[in-house]
Amino acid sequence: MSLIEPIEPAAALEVRNLVTELRLRRGTLRPVDGVSFSVAKGQTLGIVGESGSGKSMTCLSLLRLLPRPGGRIAGGEVVVAGTDLTKLSDRELARDWRGRRISMVTQDPMSSLNPVYTIGDQVGAPLRYHRIARTRSDARARAAEALGKVRIPSPEARLHDYPHQFSGGMRQRVVSAMAIACAPEVMIADEPTSSLDVTIQVKMMDLYRQIQEETGVAIVLITHDMGVAASICDRIAVMYAGRIVEQGPAKELFRNPAHPYTQSLLSAIPKLGEKRKRLYALGGQPPSLTAMPKGCRFAPRCALADAKCHASYPGETNLGAGHRTNCWRVAEGGAPHAA
Ligand SMILES: Nc1ncnc2c1ncn2[C@@H]1O[C@H](COP(=O)(O)OP(=O)(O)O)[C@@H](O)[C@H]1O
Ligand code: SF4
Ligand SMILES: [Mg+2]
Repeated sequence: MSLIEPIEPAAALEVRNLVTELRLRRGTLRPVDGVSFSVAKGQTLGIVGESGSGKSMTCLSLLRLLPRPGGRIAGGEVVVAGTDLTKLSDRELARDWRGRRISMVTQDPMSSLNPVYTIGDQVGAPLRYHRIARTRSDARARAAEALGKVRIPSPEARLHDYPHQFSGGMRQRVVSAMAIACAPEVMIADEPTSSLDVTIQVKMMDLYRQIQEETGVAIVLITHDMGVAASICDRIAVMYAGRIVEQGPAKELFRNPAHPYTQSLLSAIPKLGEKRKRLYALGGQPPSLTAMPKGCRFAPRCALADAKCHASYPGETNLGAGHRTNCWRVAEGGAPHAA
């Protein structure tokens, strides 16, 4: 063994074999079915994939914010700073972790903001709840500081304003301020910019990068936009039908996508100068949760599928430097071509 070991950056969040079930009248579904990934301190992992692939369910599972009744974590681990959050009681999770050490920004800022409270009260609320600020005036001062971090001009003056007095982009900044107010180790952002126009999206992504440089927060960024993922992520995980089918360093994955599904996502990225169009010109539909294929879940849409692909799920092939994929063609050494 070499004396010089490669230094792996410490994982801020490690998710191992996460399984989430939804018990419905029509049966039990598994929108998240054995998902594993990790995010290092100060780094961003992008989770990409078509609508319905389980990206939001994965995020909600990390914070145990699943639909009730019926939603539950059926297996796996979610480890932050050595603690498996799946083993905590609801009370412990709410008191010490959710919004404190692991926070979330959702797609629609209005759903996270209450129209009848001032911005100062709302950004100050997690600081009071988690006892970081002991008094109302301390909470206000810290809330103004958080608003300054997300580059809201004149933060002290804006503490007294209500959500409707902010533009869409500024509201998303307020929600991001709530998410970073308690200086969490991990921030989950579920399509945080998809309701914003493209120039504001770019500004938000720049802002996340600056916040990350200042605070070292690890970010899990969910997006269906490969362009957004490419602009900010250190690593990418590609999700399909409840599973991660490929993950690796962003540059490597964009340069050498191994899985036919990843290849088809990338071939749908508009080239520079082209008008942006909707992604995924991919034919067919993802499988329904009630009728998952037995083998590779992408097989019904994959031009390279053969009998083996339809018969059993491919194991993981390690392509080096943390680049991994589940595809029979890759496992057998064949170079798949775009589906
Ligand atoms: N409350 C729910 N009841 C039943 N099915 C749900 C519910 N929420 C999500 N699903 C299903 O779970 C799957 C994953 O959804 P989701 O995580 O929202 O996907 P994504 O965020 O990737 O678009 C989808 O098939 C969706 O229909
Ligand atoms: S395992 Fe087979 S069906 Fe699945 S992506 Fe690879 S080649 Fe296509
Ligand atoms: Mg979603």
